[in-house]
Amino acid sequence: MNLPIQLPIETERLVLRLPQLDDVDALMEYSQDADVCRYLPYEPRSRQEIEASMERRMGFTEFTPEGLPLFLHVELKETGEMMGELLLFSRNVEARQGEIGYVFNPRFQGKGYAFEAASALMDAAFKEANLHRIEAKCSAVNTSSWKLMEKLGMRREAHFKEQALFKGEWDELLIYAILQREWLELAK
Ligand SMILES: CC(C)(COP(=O)(O)OP(=O)(O)OC[C@H]1O[C@@H](n2cnc3c(N)ncnc32)[C@H](O)[C@@H]1OP(=O)(O)O)[C@@H](O)C(=O)NCCC(=O)NCCS
Repeated sequence: MNLPIQLPIETERLVLRLPQLDDVDALMEYSQDADVCRYLPYEPRSRQEIEASMERRMGFTEFTPEGLPLFLHVELKETGEMMGELLLFSRNVEARQGEIGYVFNPRFQGKGYAFEAASALMDAAFKEANLHRIEAKCSAVNTSSWKLMEKLGMRREAHFKEQALFKGEWDELLIYAILQREWLELAK
């Protein structure tokens, strides 16, 4: 494995680390929740589907055009509980384009953990992996998600109206992004 960033990442309250096989129970707790999956490209998952997803979660090798994303599982330092996940995709290796995603157990939402985790990953992605730009996408009705993008300092660059049918409804896609130099300026 050729990790683009040093792991684990520690923040004040969290540890961001690679997925482990014994994360299945923690994943079950939120991956079966219809509210959590509402804006995700999959339906609530069975234990079997979650177990099968571990191969993909643990399959990162390096940033390549066709490669799997880097999944990070987020632990609460205080209790050791696995509370959610971050994804970092490489969208273009040569142009150093990345995309970030996140999913948290509702039990651990509304406490700033997703922000703390995503901030730490973006910082490492810009400073260690030397990405040039990081994008994030969500449905316009996924307010918690785009609010998080705005808190991270990302700029709304697109709002595509009724650009797809998603789970039977018209979907409005938002694209947010921030450049490496903008992030470094923010972090000063
Ligand atoms: C998107 C998602 C990760 C956001 O999680 P979140 O917990 O709302 O995000 P944050 O970490 O930014 O927490 C924000 C809230 O914590 C509150 N908070 C409490 N303590 C805090 C602290 N110490 N620091 C910062 N915020 C804190 C904030 O006030 C804020 O609440 P508000 O939005 O009502 O003002 C979560 O909603 C989720 O997992 N959704 C389901 C999956 C999904 O849709 N993923 C995105 C696909 S595009």
